[in-house]
Amino acid sequence: MTATTIPGACGVRIVGSGSAYPERVLSNFDLEKMVDTSNDWIVQRTGIHERRIVNPQTEGTFTLSRDALNKALDNAGMTGSDLDLIILATVTAEMTCPSTACRVADAVGAAPAGAFDLVAACSGFVYAVNVADSMIRSGRYKSIGVIGCDTLSTIVDYEERTVSILFGDSAGSVVMVRDDDPTVGCRYQTLQSDGSMWPSLYIPRRDQEVPAGDENNPVRMGNLRMQGREVYKFAVTKFRDVIRDALEKNNLTIDDVAQFVCHQSNMRIIESAKEKLGLPDEKVHVNIDKFGNCSAGSVGLCFDQVWQAGKIKRGDLIVLVAFGGGLTWASSLWQL
Ligand code: COA
Repeated sequence: MTATTIPGACGVRIVGSGSAYPERVLSNFDLEKMVDTSNDWIVQRTGIHERRIVNPQTEGTFTLSRDALNKALDNAGMTGSDLDLIILATVTAEMTCPSTACRVADAVGAAPAGAFDLVAACSGFVYAVNVADSMIRSGRYKSIGVIGCDTLSTIVDYEERTVSILFGDSAGSVVMVRDDDPTVGCRYQTLQSDGSMWPSLYIPRRDQEVPAGDENNPVRMGNLRMQGREVYKFAVTKFRDVIRDALEKNNLTIDDVAQFVCHQSNMRIIESAKEKLGLPDEKVHVNIDKFGNCSAGSVGLCFDQVWQAGKIKRGDLIVLVAFGGGLTWASSLWQL
């Protein structure tokens, strides 16, 4: 699905941003003691030096999401009771019922605001931002709290080296409100998927779910499984394609865009897109070295870091880009 702004409709403004991540650091040197890998290999192949992981006794998707949304509300000068709706993008909800969004809504004092979880893996935050923008533009909602959060450390098999080195935990959140200016907000968006490629990134719960050919996958049942090379090829292509598409469809050049806020999947994937498209360093924020790939938490965390650092301001155009399990990919061109 692709969509451009409906003329005459209201606009949407991001009025607050926040993020949260665990204190606990898992470095490459820690991983060297857990699996057959090395700091040099991980840095060279991924650009990751360390990542944050939750203490599962006290932290999880609920606590990080709650904290990120509370910070976004503070940043907006709002309280939970100002929200009509909360959308939480995650593949690591503690429970399928209730949704983690419902518990977050309760914790921030937003009830009876609507609340639901959205599953689009690493594309989740961009999917949720696009859905929220469309719901506000429909005229039915005035203010929505959007959160992207994953705690993949809770479903990573730390006895297996191909997946365990990549992922970290974090949450990013924005508060979006209705604005009278229809040119503000999401000017162009894509939400796309190719379900035929699901076996390249999946979390099986039962033997029946395991696709033919993957029966001997060493990753334990219930944990994230990934065909790294396939995902790499997909990601490197989609990263470029969605940015090119957003610029071309809107007659924009790279110079018109203040920041490209991109999913942090692998440093080599980011570098390849930068090189092929000619994106300057200062327009692509990178935090994968310190946080790893945080799945649905990545883009929200990046957005918060550029927002808090004052690298983006009212009137700027930005592009959000993500891709991941599903397989899914999404982009969002925003006028702040
Ligand atoms: N430490 C040391 N060696 C490792 C290793 C590790 N953690 N993981 C794999 N290897 C080995 C392999 O066994 C292989 O050895 P071989 O040549 O003797 O067979 C070699 O390194 C190369 O493996 P390969 O899987 O081809 O590495 P790669 O360059 O593709 O890097 C990933 C692996 C996972 C880092 C890379 O494929 C990737 O980043 N893919 C995308 C993942 C992603 O973005 N996922 C989320 C999507 S949102």
